[in-house]
Amino acid sequence: MTGGKLLQTLGGVRFPTPPVWLMRQAGRYLPEYRAVRATTRSFLEFCYTPDKATEVTLQPIKRFGLDAAIIFSDILVIPDALGQRTWFEEGEGPKLQPLTDPAEFGQLSRARLPEHLAPVYEAIRATRAALPKETALLGFAGAPFTLACYMIEGGGSRDFHKVKHWAYSHPDSFGLLIDLLVEAVVDHLGHQVDAGADAVQLFDSWAGILPESQLFRWSLEPMTRIASLLRERRPGTPVIAFPRAVGPAALMYRRPEEFAALSIDTGIGAHWAARELQSHIVVQGNLDPMMLVVGGSALEEEATRILDKLGHGSFVFNLGHGVVPQTPPDHVAQLVEIVRNWKPGAA
Ligand code: CP3
Repeated sequence: MTGGKLLQTLGGVRFPTPPVWLMRQAGRYLPEYRAVRATTRSFLEFCYTPDKATEVTLQPIKRFGLDAAIIFSDILVIPDALGQRTWFEEGEGPKLQPLTDPAEFGQLSRARLPEHLAPVYEAIRATRAALPKETALLGFAGAPFTLACYMIEGGGSRDFHKVKHWAYSHPDSFGLLIDLLVEAVVDHLGHQVDAGADAVQLFDSWAGILPESQLFRWSLEPMTRIASLLRERRPGTPVIAFPRAVGPAALMYRRPEEFAALSIDTGIGAHWAARELQSHIVVQGNLDPMMLVVGGSALEEEATRILDKLGHGSFVFNLGHGVVPQTPPDHVAQLVEIVRNWKPGAA
């Protein structure tokens, strides 16, 4: 089997040490990222400039030799491509003209998506051409529920009351929005695969705000539908699912037919994951990003503890959420060393 350590691990091959990459590995903690970022005012325009997106995607690979690159983009390019006004406010994060009425869905259209997101696909082609062949290139998208959260709230939110109110009070119309997003995500992932993405990750960052009774309908079912449609349209593409903060309901996502791996957040115990998840599916995760900020012996002990629990089975070393801006880059180098030098001992 070709494709380097990450793809082989997703295919069930075991290595003495697991592959390692980090969510948000390209970003503000790297001075070379900040230098390129400073050349464009608007964050979305930056995402849509292929040579800049390519350059910052490659930066963490050059520095740390990680096993995968993730294309530099954002989950909110989908609402932007569907025609919802989307922008990033300096220091405040994403803003969207909020959807307030189902009648507004009619104005969203998938027709322009491939053209609008063509710069992302161009960046993927250029990145794939520049990457060592053993380094996997990951595409990604937000899962429908998380996208709907931003689209209805008009940005981030502490409690996402509006999304929940809509989903619980008008499930039929909320379902129509989810269906539109399923199709848009499949389109976007399919184009990323055509351009050279070797595998894709679905970020359901806000799945954890839903009660368990609602998780199947609004998080898991749309994600499995995306995986099945992608399998029909682009057979053999591994899909990594990241339903963040769902707790023991992670058991519901243990679906090897649909997902090649299940990415777990910091709230899930490595020991529990080894026992309950790993015999069914490849596990990815789940170091606390704050351990990377702290570094030193705290990082070493925690990373080794995770490796001792999960490194004996099919495992991809990652964080439980993204790298934060205050992370010293040297600590990422330290982590890669720890993972690569780990010796499987008695668990
Ligand atoms: O290296 C990588 O992981 C690839 C790039 C990537 C970004 N965003 C770049 C980015 C990826 C995979 C994402 C995913 C993303 N974007 C998610 C899912 C993962 C998660 O964190 O839960 C979400 C919810 C978003 C939406 C988003 N984009 C927010 C909430 C913010 C603001 C928060 C912040 O850190 O400022 C962004 C902006 C963003 N996306 C930045 C980066 C590097 C920072 C903006 C900048 O550099 O000016």
